[in-house]
Amino acid sequence: MGTRRPLVAGNWKMNGSRAESATLLDGVKKGVSSAFRAEVAVCPPFILLPLAAEKLAGSGIAWGGQNLSVHSAGAYTGEVSGPMLKDYGCTYVIVGHSERRAFYSESDTLVAEKFAAAQNAGLIPILCVGETLQEREAGQTEAVVARQLEAVLDKHGIGGFKNAVIAYEPVWAIGTGKTATPQQAQDVHRFIRGRLAARDKAVAENTRILYGGSMKGGNAGELLAQPDIDGGLIGGASLQADEFIAIGRAAG
Ligand code: 13P
Repeated sequence: MGTRRPLVAGNWKMNGSRAESATLLDGVKKGVSSAFRAEVAVCPPFILLPLAAEKLAGSGIAWGGQNLSVHSAGAYTGEVSGPMLKDYGCTYVIVGHSERRAFYSESDTLVAEKFAAAQNAGLIPILCVGETLQEREAGQTEAVVARQLEAVLDKHGIGGFKNAVIAYEPVWAIGTGKTATPQQAQDVHRFIRGRLAARDKAVAENTRILYGGSMKGGNAGELLAQPDIDGGLIGGASLQADEFIAIGRAAG
């Protein structure tokens, strides 16, 4: 992890009633110690952001969105903009999650536009990259991750990463219970940092690269011990306060 402050962020995806979410937020708030070195954040569905804002204000725990529009306002039925997320106190927004790329046809170009829309609204994008099982087995992991990353770098330059987080999420590890080994993850994280370093060494050194994919309390320690893994983007385990807190604790 080096000197970078770890970030443990929960991606709740499309889960949680208002009552369940209130209980979860209370549990997370109670369990997250100010002694944690890690920064902790939750990304609930849009409709639960006011509740997160109400519960977490002043707690030191941050919150964010899971997606945003490329537009800031206007006739875009069903969309939510960066300025709206900012208005509800969001610090972060996830951009280019593999579920958005796969189920909602988000292209590298669109993801790069969303990355900029987030920063223009004063939000910190958490840019997700990662290969499918088929791509890994075809030896294309680095090529795919490089393509996803360079789409943003080419559009916004390395300066865009002065205030951004990257999440490496191998698609085959998401929601499958099949975690990347610490070495598999470290190899890709080092590769990503190398791509940033080719443009600017200081930015590469300061950028947090999170791992995501079946991370839980029991496997977080060995993943987070890797030199280029700076935290986690947690799906399933972020819906259980105890598991999520255990990951935060493992991050130091
Ligand atoms: P799981 O932790 O459920 O595998 O999900 C990871 C993820 O997609 C976080 O964005």
